[in-house]
Formats: sequence, C-alpha cells, structure tokens
Amino acid sequence: MGFMSKPFSEQMAIVTGGGTGIGRAFTEALATAGAKVVIASRRADVLRRAADEMNTTLAAERVFPYEFDIRDRAQIEELVRDVFERGQSIDVLVNNSGLAVPETVEQITGEGWDTVMETNLRGVMQLVRAVLPHMCRNDFGDIVNVSSQAGKHGYADVPSYCASKFGLLGYAEALRDHVRKTGTNIRVFNFCPGLVDVENSKADQTPREGFIHVANMARTLMYALSLDRNVVLEDINLYAR
Ligand SMILES: NC(=O)c1ccc[n+]([C@@H]2O[C@H](COP(=O)([O-])OP(=O)(O)OC[C@H]3O[C@@H](n4cnc5c(N)ncnc54)[C@H](OP(=O)(O)O)[C@@H]3O)[C@@H](O)[C@H]2O)c1
Repeated sequence: MGFMSKPFSEQMAIVTGGGTGIGRAFTEALATAGAKVVIASRRADVLRRAADEMNTTLAAERVFPYEFDIRDRAQIEELVRDVFERGQSIDVLVNNSGLAVPETVEQITGEGWDTVMETNLRGVMQLVRAVLPHMCRNDFGDIVNVSSQAGKHGYADVPSYCASKFGLLGYAEALRDHVRKTGTNIRVFNFCPGLVDVENSKADQTPREGFIHVANMARTLMYALSLDRNVVLEDINLYAR
C-alpha cells in the first residue's frame, strides 16, 4: 500500500461547482494552501468572475475556470483529459456540484427526478470513473464527495434529493472498498453537512440561525486532507448546534 504524500503546491484539484457557495470556499482553501484548482460547472461567466477574484486575492494564477455539464459524459471526459494534460496529475477531486428539485412524494416528475439523479449521482459516478485511472497510475489521490444531512435522513419536501444523496454515500462506500482492495494510495471522504449559509459567506459575516458559516466546511476539508495518508475521516457530519 502506498503512503506517499505530496505538498499542496504540487497538487492539481478539480472542484465541481467551485464558482459558488461551498465549492468556492473549498477552492479558496485549496488554492491558499498552494494547489492549482480547476473549478468546473455550467456557467462560464460565474466561474470566470470567481477565478479572477480568487487569483487577485492570492496574487497568483491558481484557480482556472472550466465550463462543463456534469450530466454529459463527453464533457466529463474532455474536462479530465484537459486537466490531466495541463498538470500530469489530478490529485484532488471534489464532487461538490449538486442541486435539489423541490417536489414532494406526490409531485415528483420524471424530469425532476432525472435532473437530480443525473447531476448528483450519475454525474459523480462518471467523473470518478474518468479520474480514477489517473489517480491509480500516480498512486495518489483524494476524492471528496459532498453529500448532505439529507443523505442520512429523509425530508418530505425533497425526496429525490434525499435519494440522490443517500445514493452518493452508497456509491462512495463501494468506491472506498474498491480502492482499499486494489491497494492504491487513494482516500475517499464524504461531507454530510446540515444547513450551510452560502449567502453570508464573507469572513466577518454571521450565519443565519440554524446554519453554519461556510468557512467551517473549508477548514474541515483542509484538516481531513492533512491527516496521514493511511487515515480516512469517513463521513463528516457538520451541523449547527
Ligand atoms: N448549502 C447547504 O446548506 C448544503 C447542505 C448540504 C449539502 N449541500 C450540498 O453542497 C453542494 C454545494 O451546494 P451549495 O450550497 O454551495 O449551492 P450552490 O452554490 O447552488 O452550488 C451548486 C453548484 O453546482 C453546480 N452545478 C449544478 N448543476 C450542475 C451541472 N449540471 N454540471 C456542473 N455543475 C453543476 C452549480 O454551478 P452551475 O450552475 O454553474 O452549473 C453550482 O456551482 C451541493 O451538492 C449541495 O447539495 C449544501
């Protein structure tokens, strides 16, 4: 089993949905630690602006925008090919992109259900499938999945979202068992946060009642990644007190 570690300054990360909310906080933390981070999602303008802002703050070119739709397998493969060509490694994959379609048990439409499943579950599976061979070849990698409190408990207003986030945890556990059996130096972490305030996200802002400040997600990510290579903090449940 490989225990090789690597400084963040030599790491290349992909953060899906890294232009907004939790993904942006993760990106800031990784880039501040010295990693190069490709932020990937559908809205090119949002990504470009976020990357420019973060690079200006860092006074370095470490955040790179990439337009892609996680529901499209061809676009996933193109993303992974382009990122690997740029850096010859993909060291961290943060599966953060996700959405909810609020339809109750009685309201669920085929379209709503499929949108949620294709984004939150099938997309992650396809992206992991594309990244894994590169991580295996380099014998190094961390895969971080953003599930939810709704991946552990059911809520009547978002049944399809709950199903996708429960499913994501099931897939991630199977993936963890797979990398353990193959003996590669790859760790799989899952975040299961309660409400995270992505509107009051500046350092000096106070989160709304019942929400946690998004900075806690970023700090926990960096803590989890800093552990020894043979240590996996499995499911990380963060709730407001
Ligand atoms: N905030 C919370 O309270 C909370 C709690 C538990 C879990 N979560 C999870 O945390 C993750 C981030 O959410 P957030 O709160 O930071 O909200 P957010 O700002 O809405 O982030 C969601 C991101 O997903 C991206 N995305 C959506 N559809 C996509 C697609 N088809 N292809 C690629 N990217 C796509 C969006 O970018 P584009 O629109 O540009 O594609 C956006 O950047 C989600 O998985 C969410 O379920 C959030």
